[in-house]
Amino acid sequence: MRDQWNSKIGFIMAAIGSAVGLGNIWRFPYVAATNGGGAFLLPYFFVILTAGIPILILEYTMGKTYRGGAPSTWARINKRFEWLGWWQVMCAFVIATYYTAIVVWVVSYFGFAFTSAWGADPTSFFLNDFLGVTDSAHNFGGLRLNLVIPFLCVWAVSAFIIYRGINRGINLACKICLPILIFMIFILVIRGLTLPGAVDGLAYMFTPDWSALKEPRVWVAAYGQVFYSLSICFAIMVSYSSYLPKKTDVVNTAFITATANHGFEIFAGIGVFSIMGFMALQQGVGVSDVASAGVGLAFMTFPTAISTLPGFNAFFGICFFGALLTAGVTSQISILQAVTSGFQDKFNVSHAKACTIMIVPAFVISFLFITGAGLNILDIVDYFINSIGVASAGFLEIVLIGWFFQPEKLRREANEFSNFSIGKWWIYAIKIVSVFGLGIMVILNLKDTIINGYGSYSPLDISVFGWGVIALCVVATIVLTVMRGRENYDKIPEEPVRTEEKEAE
Ligand code: ALA
Repeated sequence: MRDQWNSKIGFIMAAIGSAVGLGNIWRFPYVAATNGGGAFLLPYFFVILTAGIPILILEYTMGKTYRGGAPSTWARINKRFEWLGWWQVMCAFVIATYYTAIVVWVVSYFGFAFTSAWGADPTSFFLNDFLGVTDSAHNFGGLRLNLVIPFLCVWAVSAFIIYRGINRGINLACKICLPILIFMIFILVIRGLTLPGAVDGLAYMFTPDWSALKEPRVWVAAYGQVFYSLSICFAIMVSYSSYLPKKTDVVNTAFITATANHGFEIFAGIGVFSIMGFMALQQGVGVSDVASAGVGLAFMTFPTAISTLPGFNAFFGICFFGALLTAGVTSQISILQAVTSGFQDKFNVSHAKACTIMIVPAFVISFLFITGAGLNILDIVDYFINSIGVASAGFLEIVLIGWFFQPEKLRREANEFSNFSIGKWWIYAIKIVSVFGLGIMVILNLKDTIINGYGSYSPLDISVFGWGVIALCVVATIVLTVMRGRENYDKIPEEPVRTEEKEAE
């Protein structure tokens, strides 16, 4: 019998736990900052309304109706669509391998925050002392021994939570982590807002720039950020909602999840931009200069800010990395669960066996990210898997549903148990606006990547860790789709009888 969330609130907490992750605290500020600050917010809100929320409603409806991980859900919609589920699962698998590495850095930095162990030059500390970054992605430079213990701990905790299942593991972890996260973010924001220069950071974040709407790059970034942040299009929300009872109000649940996630993202952004404003004032430079650190924002710029803060700065650092840690763990487990449920349905094995099938290879591969080449590999893989893998998965998802299936059927399904019914706008948002917007984004981005590669990495590194990873995912997708497992895609699993119903019988 398939598992089921104990309560609707349990599901909402898990979904928010998945959505609110490193993407909200670490990724959003630098993506917004490197795409013009306030200029980014207009496309960002447009994408939330026209693609983010509609796709979230779609995935919740698909999951709770067909009651399977992404591959079985797609196969139940139409046998010929199973491959898309595996493509999404492969994206999640790749993300899981490097997401762990970032959580490992966060664990270490949480410890460093007590003593400001990064010293006077946090940038050099991060790149040289901590990660021992080599000159290229194929120069591995050996395993970083300082990362091995946190690495094993992060894997042990994630595996423990996943093995315990959705209620005793994931749900419980979210119940513990979310209040801590909210508390720590409040401290971050309040401290940030009271710093000199905060107002400049906020002005940078909120001043709109209409001309940026003409820039495809900014739109690309907005789609990427919203998908990543809402955990949509890479198997997670389909898998999570497959443990919902059929009578769930998915429309209202999707609005709650999206509002909480993006509200949190903006709120955390206010804290982070205030601190960037403070840093800019201290260094006599513009906010955009401070914010341009990209991936290193949390591990280079922030420690610098923490060290220069007046007053009790250790506490502030603990809150910042503590927030990243709690947010990261609840998202990491959702990514792992998305992969697990795909294997569990295909091979019709126990939850524990499916966990093992998924965790062992993910664990072994993720060792790559704790070598001296880890940061460079991570940067390339993150770019390719998100802007090519997840973006194409999202595009294919709405094309298949919008144009090769009856979205009206899913709209009726979503409305059946929802207080607030979604109108025809939902179909137009998916079938027309998002297909068009995302389609252009995927094509432009693909063209740009084929011509220019990514960053300043060599063609060899791009071929191996960028295109190579994409090619491996394609092969795995084909193999898993054609492989005969012990799947029973013809039959939608029954809902378990709830305890109170059992008692009533
Ligand atoms: N939604 C998760 C995050 O934002 C993956 O990090």
